[in-house]
Amino acid sequence: MGLVGAGTRLAQMSRSSSQQVAVIGAGVIGLSVAWELATSGLGVTVVDPAPGSGASGVAAGMLAAVTEAHFTEPDLAGANVLSLSLWPGYASRLEAASGMVVGLERAGTLVVAGDPSDRDALAQLGRFVNSIGLEAEWIGARELRRREPLLSPNLTGALFAPGDYSVNNRSLHAALLAACKTAGVDFVQEAASGVATSDATAIGVTISGGELIAAEWVVVAAGAWTAGISGLPLSLTSALRPIKGHILRLSPTERAGPLPLLSHTVRGLVNGRPVYLVPRADRELVLGATSEERGFDLRKEAGSVGDLLQDARAVLPAIDHCELTEIGVGLRPGSFDNAPVVGRVGPRGLVAACGHYRNGILLAPLTAELVADEILGNSRHSIPSFLPSRLVERKNPALQEGGLG
Ligand code: GLY
Repeated sequence: MGLVGAGTRLAQMSRSSSQQVAVIGAGVIGLSVAWELATSGLGVTVVDPAPGSGASGVAAGMLAAVTEAHFTEPDLAGANVLSLSLWPGYASRLEAASGMVVGLERAGTLVVAGDPSDRDALAQLGRFVNSIGLEAEWIGARELRRREPLLSPNLTGALFAPGDYSVNNRSLHAALLAACKTAGVDFVQEAASGVATSDATAIGVTISGGELIAAEWVVVAAGAWTAGISGLPLSLTSALRPIKGHILRLSPTERAGPLPLLSHTVRGLVNGRPVYLVPRADRELVLGATSEERGFDLRKEAGSVGDLLQDARAVLPAIDHCELTEIGVGLRPGSFDNAPVVGRVGPRGLVAACGHYRNGILLAPLTAELVADEILGNSRHSIPSFLPSRLVERKNPALQEGGLG
């Protein structure tokens, strides 16, 4: 795409002497990148019609490096652990910069087991995560009951991951917005229609109506909507897809039992479906989440809500006495190999920060550092499994037909 429309704005005019960066997307990833860049002295403009209205607003906020680890994804697990290690310092800095609390909870996560096959699966997960240096230990039924008295008596034990924290995703987003504004980030509340280029170099972001937000660097962090932005290489857009999740928010009534209902994040497998319950400091419980391949369908479906409630009740019967305060639907930004795409891609000056799938909140501090290093020429971390170069190496019929885009 070339230069379109009549209007051209310089990103962050007040800082015209420094390099200008336009970030597409004001979710947790886009804002964490913007905050990192602005505090490094760059002029930053974030383009988003409705900051926080995507996956960041409905996420559960689990920092689940251990309990979302998979045998087939040891590199991703390693990166998740690295980002988890950044979280305590990140949360403190952000709270200091914003004057707001982000709700980092450090009680850890219990993955509960019902029948012997659950126990076998969890023992296997425990061995795998221990083998890559992560802490997780088996606790029996009696100890589980001591820690979480309101869990179902049918549960026979749990894998305890002390390092799998959680954060209040909405408080986090609000704090990032405040910190960005304090750091001088400019916000344009319009939809980005494309990345503008000239001579194979990104020159900014076009918004509805054709106006150009001019910048020397463009960071695309538009979550599940990334693929709809024009000017991005096909190798990137064809690697991404939305994965729908229903997620509920519940508030205990006086009939639910002694509060808090839970002290840890609790996860489990019920009827072959994963379910999790994440307690907040204000007693709210976040109950998630379905995983559905439905494209950009954001409708709330009764069957999915019913499944979540049924599965959660098998873990924590007291949810029957909670008020159902919110039914949420979000689109996880999935990638072809479940790892995010972070780094330079396509025209010069374009940096991807997308495809974070189930781990966007967890990976925000690491992603921010990776993008800032890319732009500023530093190299604090090396995460080959996030690099966009892997996109062109994979077998993809769309690419063979249409070229690399
Ligand atoms: N990370 C939790 C989820 O994607 O449901």
